[in-house]
Parts: sequence; structure tokens; C-alpha cells
Amino acid sequence: MTSHTLIAGNWKMNGLLSSLDEARAIAEGSSDSVVKIAVFPPFTLLHAMSEALGPDSHILLGGQDCHHEDNGAYTGDVSAAQLLDAGARMVLLGHSERRHGHKEACELVALKARAAVKAGLEPLICVGETLEQRKEGLTHAVLSKQLRDSLPDDLIGKAFHVSYEPVWAIGTGMIATDDQIIDAFALIRRVISERFGDEFKPHLLYGGSVKPDNAAEVLRLEGVGGALVGGASLKAADFLKIIHSAP
Ligand code: G3H
Repeated sequence: MTSHTLIAGNWKMNGLLSSLDEARAIAEGSSDSVVKIAVFPPFTLLHAMSEALGPDSHILLGGQDCHHEDNGAYTGDVSAAQLLDAGARMVLLGHSERRHGHKEACELVALKARAAVKAGLEPLICVGETLEQRKEGLTHAVLSKQLRDSLPDDLIGKAFHVSYEPVWAIGTGMIATDDQIIDAFALIRRVISERFGDEFKPHLLYGGSVKPDNAAEVLRLEGVGGALVGGASLKAADFLKIIHSAP
């Protein structure tokens, strides 16, 4: 089980060069862990963090987004190849803060996922319903559509991961209940196996208010293959507690 657990920290728009000390502390404090660990710093820190951790680090680095084209006149954007060049091995795609804050449609997320695997990055694709959608009983429909339209066929045979992040649980301290997580994961597993085949088993993560004091309970749930952690990944001490909570 442990080697199938992925604990990922999404630093979002947080962190300065001084934060490299946190990254070093995460690496040092988890050197004996068999859990797969990833950190998604802001673009500005990727190269420096890669240098600080060194080429043989067990910490995988990832970008928080990428453009779907290889290069060109796209002011403010970063390509998958540029992420790889800066030291990233993974990329976060379709986070709700991009879907809602930047009006990213599923089809765009799919194009980005295609670009990511073409460049050799492992995409971590996020799906999740809003509180309104949950209240209206639309959770399954929303998750099914997001999975169907955000995961391109190009992912077949490639390493990729999916994180279930109910939008209402992100940054609110209101973690989803065990039953809500189990229900969503059963659906996600079914949709993925119908699409990609039973033998294909990406890491399925839960994200949304995962903290040191609730991580163990989430990570022991059937089928939960890890956690995508926002706020609690910014301090090495908190993130390490979550890493060490993995079964
Ligand atoms: O990417 C991480 C998620 O948005 C969760 O963030 O742990 O601060 O709730 P959070």
C-alpha cells in the first residue's frame, strides 16, 4: 500500500526563494519514507528548488499548470517542455482555481494533459463539484463529465493521477466526510476503468482541507491513494506529519 501512496503539496501562489528551506526540510524529514512525494511550487521557484534538492532527490517537482502548445506567442504562459527543463516531472491540471478562476473548460484541460504527456510529464488532474452542485444532487454528473472531457485518450498507457477535490472543501477547513469521499472515489474508479481498462490504476488522491490531524483518517479509506495538500504543505513540519500519516 505505502508505495502506492502519493502525497502532493500544492503551494499555489505562495513561496519566495527563502521557502527553499522548507523544501529542503521536507526532503530531509522524509528521506526514509517510501511514500511518493511531490511538491508543486510556483513557476518562479521550480528551477531553484530543483537545484536545491539535487538531481537524485526523492521529492518530485511539478508545475501548477501548463499551456497546451509547445511554444509561441502566449504571454504569461509556460509550456510543458519548459516545466521539464526547469526540473519538473509532474504538472497539476484542471485545479478548480484554474477551472473557476481562469474559466478553464474540460476540453482545455484535456489539451494540456495531452501536451504534458507528450513532453514526458505526469499530469495530476483535478476534478470536483461546487457546493451548489452537490446540494442539487449533481455531484456524480459533474465528476463524470469532468473525467470524460478532461482526460484525453493520450493518457492511455501513461502515468497520470487524478485528485478528487470538492471545491467547497478547499481552504475552508471543511473536509469531506468519509462517506462522501468513498462515494466519489467509487464513481471515479468506475469511470476510469470503463475508459482505460481495469488493469489501469492511476493514483486517486483526495484534496480539500487535509491537515496533520485528519490525514491518517482520509488516507486509510478504501481506494484513497494519497492526498493533494494545499495550506498544510507550506510548512515542512505540517507536511511531514501528513507524509508520515500514510499507511
Ligand atoms: O491543491 C490543493 C487543494 O486545493 C487543497 O487545498 O489543503 O488548502 O484545502 P487546501
